[in-house]
Amino acid sequence: MLSSKASSNSHGQDSAYFLGWQVYEENPFDEVENPRGIIQMGLAENQLSLDLIEPWVRKNPDAMGLEKDGESVFREIALFQDYHGLPAFKNELVDHMAKVRGNKVKFDPNKLVLAAGATSANEILIFCLADPGEAILIPTPYYPGFDRDLKWRSGVEIVPVHCWSSDGFRITMLALEDAYQRAQKLNLNVKGVFITNPSNPLGTTMAKDELNDLIAFAMAKNIHVISDEVFSGTVFDSPGFLSIMDAAMDRNLENTDLWNNIHIVYSLSKDLGLPGFRVGMIYSNNETVVSAATKMSSFGLVSSQTQYLLSNLLANKKFTSKYMKENQKRLKRRKEMLVSGLKKSGIECLKSNAGLFCWVDMRHLLSSNTFEAETKLWDEIISEARLNISPGSSFHCTEPGWFRVCFANVSQGTLQVAMRRIKHFVQRSSFSGGIEMSYQQNVSSLSRKLLSNWVRKVSSANRDEHEH
Ligand SMILES: Cc1ncc(COP(=O)(O)O)c(C=O)c1O
Repeated sequence: MLSSKASSNSHGQDSAYFLGWQVYEENPFDEVENPRGIIQMGLAENQLSLDLIEPWVRKNPDAMGLEKDGESVFREIALFQDYHGLPAFKNELVDHMAKVRGNKVKFDPNKLVLAAGATSANEILIFCLADPGEAILIPTPYYPGFDRDLKWRSGVEIVPVHCWSSDGFRITMLALEDAYQRAQKLNLNVKGVFITNPSNPLGTTMAKDELNDLIAFAMAKNIHVISDEVFSGTVFDSPGFLSIMDAAMDRNLENTDLWNNIHIVYSLSKDLGLPGFRVGMIYSNNETVVSAATKMSSFGLVSSQTQYLLSNLLANKKFTSKYMKENQKRLKRRKEMLVSGLKKSGIECLKSNAGLFCWVDMRHLLSSNTFEAETKLWDEIISEARLNISPGSSFHCTEPGWFRVCFANVSQGTLQVAMRRIKHFVQRSSFSGGIEMSYQQNVSSLSRKLLSNWVRKVSSANRDEHEH
């Protein structure tokens, strides 16, 4: 019944990342109503500072009520559907982007394309830059949604750039070159390299020398650099955030082909904690790309009502500066809480300075150094500790035993419950020499099916990888 495009499963929606959400939905934790439920720690949502935005909305009824200086602007907003977006909104967005980047780069609103979230922005960019069957290189581990956003409808192939714990999962020239050679062996024309800075799932910002290596590599191969910077405003510790654009400017590359090959994706989903508003954008110095992407954006425009509300919010510079600072302070505190909680259970995290999650090392809890063992551990953590965290395999991590744990979508009290559960889990696990699955007690039959499908899938993917 469906087209082959719609029924193709290259979207990766059946990965453990999304399956964990489904298992959580069946039995969600609630401190009062369901204290034995599953705690959702697999969702990179920032709920820590919504209490600052809500009163602003209440105090500024004009922005929601579509009024300006006491006069209604309802008709103007209701009829507005220009895919270039409201000029006032775009001006505020470029100012905001510059502010997040320490006002080192001045952004031009004419180089900005609006889209319904970074999800849509990423898809549009890839659609504009690569043909079906061409390839984009992406350092691992990477956000599982990219399989859906970059591959599914565009028909573009993702070639992983394998990064390793021994390098702190940093991108190296060797790893980039290795991925490029693999793509060539597969007869894939490489159109670009796609980075996430700060990284999801690592929670780290890219270092200057990493960005310089990337620039050198992109220049040598004459390919695009796409930088997803949706977490740029979450940087809560040094070193500060350095965008690929800053790194290129530092090297005076504004008049080179590379400058035209750099494209930034940003959204208000993470920094402002507003994923439901669906505000994303592409920023590019390349006029041809901006023009094509603007046409594409008509498939996923941002509602003019949302644009109106948020241009009012962003115009209040005093409020946004205060918000950003306070939000970063809260994220840092929360991250420290998670790191010290896990430490008490003998679990270490990769050193991080950004994001809404930690990249957690549970290799010592694996029964063997395989992805099958990682899936088994994930499974046990869901059924025994009743925590949904996301296994590294769903981020295409090269080494088994790493998990992403989110800390900004739950309350402090819930995080404390989660830390107690993990401690108990680790104690029981070392006491019994490994926890046996107790599905019958804890997990419903749907969860059981979902989980066992996933175990089968990961095992066969591992086998394939070893055989090729
Ligand atoms: C790296 C990255 N890019 C894009 C997105 C999608 O963001 P949006 O809600 O703006 O579509 C996410 C969401 O988690 C993400 O982690």
